[in-house]
Amino acid sequence: MLFGATGDLALKKIFPALRGLFQEKAFDDDSQIIAVSRREWNDDDFRDFLKKEDSVGDADFLGRISYSKVDIETGEGYEDLKSSIESIKSSAPGSEVLVYLSLAPQNHPKALSSLKETGILAKGRGRVLIEKPFGIDKKTACELDKLISSFLDESQVCRVDHYLGKDTVQAIMNLQESTADFANLLDKSSVESIRVKLFEEKGIDGRGETYDRVGAFRDVGQNHMLEMLAAVVAEPHETDDWQSARAKALKALVPPAKTCEFSRRGQYEGYRQEKGVKDDSEIETAFEVTTRMSTGHLKDVPLILEAGKKMMKSEVLVEVLFKEVSGLPKRMIYSVQPVQEISIENRDGTTDRFEIPKTRDAYGNVILAAWRGDKKTFAGRDEIEALWSYTDRVVACWGKVPLEMYSDKKPFLLP
Ligand code: BG6
Repeated sequence: MLFGATGDLALKKIFPALRGLFQEKAFDDDSQIIAVSRREWNDDDFRDFLKKEDSVGDADFLGRISYSKVDIETGEGYEDLKSSIESIKSSAPGSEVLVYLSLAPQNHPKALSSLKETGILAKGRGRVLIEKPFGIDKKTACELDKLISSFLDESQVCRVDHYLGKDTVQAIMNLQESTADFANLLDKSSVESIRVKLFEEKGIDGRGETYDRVGAFRDVGQNHMLEMLAAVVAEPHETDDWQSARAKALKALVPPAKTCEFSRRGQYEGYRQEKGVKDDSEIETAFEVTTRMSTGHLKDVPLILEAGKKMMKSEVLVEVLFKEVSGLPKRMIYSVQPVQEISIENRDGTTDRFEIPKTRDAYGNVILAAWRGDKKTFAGRDEIEALWSYTDRVVACWGKVPLEMYSDKKPFLLP
């Protein structure tokens, strides 16, 4: 069941991912999808709407989709939704319900409360995927968790960060788990610095109003970048429970001082003219934050997070720079985008490249992980708290960091 079924994310990512999973036969044969939104539609209206999207127009797939009108605000429609679920369940006994909330964060509490009251989800029955952001700060994330734990077990909760479903991020975690030698290579005596980079050529994609409330750090720092970092810096011997390992690593990050020293913020020229953006907006569209861990195997190693919209090229990676110690390479790069590979730059100038095979889009991996109950692809409760704790501290001192204007002619961070 997909809430927010007419939204951009559903159309561009979630439906194509579901379609791919059906083609792979990842689900039971009789699995069905209920699309949920507040539009006054029937099944055919919704299918017609979906048909216009090139990526989801296949007849077999469309035949599995029905539509249910629910108004999250007023709570109308849940009883009909419940009947639809029951009629599917009676034709496929023993089947499980997976609820995907692809909604704005302010709608999460209401939708979850209604799912609780109607019993659509209950302890031990069904799972829920909650799209990012989970809360808008630490306080709201904790409140949401309180509500969730009042009617669900933690094993039923999938806090989505699609970066945890990216092949490279999964490969990083797999390597740490399976290759002790490899994981042990990353240590404070060998590592000079670790840099997480999320550069995008594109701008804010017409999301002016939302983006202007959050800015780059909350948009991609709080989640994707800190999660990539956590996957690399987690203690190798704790990776049998990734949620705890990442949470522990995140908790060890030293928050910025009140002045946000070692941070930079940028805004691309033309941002204030985007639709929905205030014409005197002080919101950052790019940043650089340098942090470190107060404990553990990478204690005090500089950890650099840098991200931006409208950068000169699109590139997402984690770079580990090694100290000049004999036997160690110069650097290792886990590349997430545009290529999926691990490359090792040796001191003799040669580079070894290891391709990371493409499985499916990150959203496909996320949905499959939720279906299988694989926790490592989702943020745990402590992990979310640690992510917000750090983020709240960064944005609290953002006002003290001057905003630098950038453009292709005046780049903000090194390309
Ligand atoms: C989203 C952010 O979570 O991730 C977007 O809100 C960003 O601003 C996107 O563009 C990046 O994801 P991907 O998969 O395109 O790298």
